[in-house]
Amino acid sequence: MGFDRERYDRIKAAFALDDEALRKIADDFRADMRAGLAGEDGATLRMLRSYAGLPSSRENGSFLALDFGGTNVRALRILLKGNGDYEVLSKVAKPLTLPGVYDYVSADATAEEMFDFLAEIIDEAIEGNRMTKYLLGHTFSFPSQQTDLYNASLIVWTKEFATKGVEGKIVNDLLKDALARRGMTNVTPVAVINDTVAVLLAAAYRQEHTYIGSIYATGQNTCYYEEFADGSETATVINMESGGFGHLPFSVYDDIIDASSEQPGAQRLEKMTSGRYLGTLFGTALADLLEQDGAYPFTSIELSEIVADAYLDRHVAGALLEAKTGMTFNAAERTLLQELAAAVIIRSARIVAATYAGIIRHRSGENPLENQYIALDGSVYEKMPLVAHHLRAALDTLLENDAVNVQIILENAGSALGAALAAAMTEAK
Ligand code: BGC
Repeated sequence: MGFDRERYDRIKAAFALDDEALRKIADDFRADMRAGLAGEDGATLRMLRSYAGLPSSRENGSFLALDFGGTNVRALRILLKGNGDYEVLSKVAKPLTLPGVYDYVSADATAEEMFDFLAEIIDEAIEGNRMTKYLLGHTFSFPSQQTDLYNASLIVWTKEFATKGVEGKIVNDLLKDALARRGMTNVTPVAVINDTVAVLLAAAYRQEHTYIGSIYATGQNTCYYEEFADGSETATVINMESGGFGHLPFSVYDDIIDASSEQPGAQRLEKMTSGRYLGTLFGTALADLLEQDGAYPFTSIELSEIVADAYLDRHVAGALLEAKTGMTFNAAERTLLQELAAAVIIRSARIVAATYAGIIRHRSGENPLENQYIALDGSVYEKMPLVAHHLRAALDTLLENDAVNVQIILENAGSALGAALAAAMTEAK
């Protein structure tokens, strides 16, 4: 054996989350929602008001959508046709980092450089047109404090973004200035929404009874439609910033990842669940198993490849593991390491399911659960093996007999379509 079996069992057990622990997470999450809504000290959920309602489904016209939030930025021209119908008229996508060429997300980049790059992409999407007037909806996938649909200031970067001069600023003002620098005064940013809100709007445009929108990708976060049963506020979509939920059973590996991240103490749920961190979590546990310091740098795509390997000798997983660690493992060891990778992924899916159960119970209160949809987007949900299955299974466990009333729909046009809808919804007023 290249590693100690008892040590392995102990490390793998650090990622186990039984049904009782799961129920506790769902209950604590629901309690934190209430505390966050009331602005109580000690709440870890930000519960940010989006100032967006749900679409009427009658929205129509041509709008620009800027989707800015993960590793790629996209600008699109979208024609809304009403009744859930739409057409993408043009689309430009670029990464925010091109190794050796540019990097707009590191601490060396400035807000100006970043937003000039965004303006350039939008310019490509409208093919340099300076005549036609466009309203632009902006999906900005970071925690923002809003006072209305336009004014959103970045509270703090997440997902290890570190660009200087954006935190605390009204992001649409930064964009407006950048557009002006290029002479693009025909483009008017009118709305900023979180990507979870975009997913919800896009799904609700097409499917009634959709009240929850969620992203399970590089980052992890969920929003929902809050109707304020006590009448204290106008109904609105709330961006929970659920990746910030902090009442969780942390393992020693979660603490290591947190301590070495850009923002220690923040985004604790996200650091246990999202694509940005899953590979590193596995790499940290593996380093401990092999009695090495630090973490082996696995990406979440490599983690997927490890668990997807169905060959008897697990040679695909083996090649990846050996390349990173410089050690060789026999087939039995590779299988065990594959199970460790699976444990990291399954825990992630179960935690995310517990947050959904908390939201569903919060929304229904004492009333019977109506038939409803959760709209979900993101590469982890869509592509990572084991995730969709364990998410659904955990939701079934938590919702018991009511589980049949809740369906999960994949909404992968969300970020852009939602931005166009948000722009259209400002016109309707
Ligand atoms: C951000 C959220 C976003 C999520 C998914 C998180 O890191 O804080 O605002 O919705 O990532 O992109």
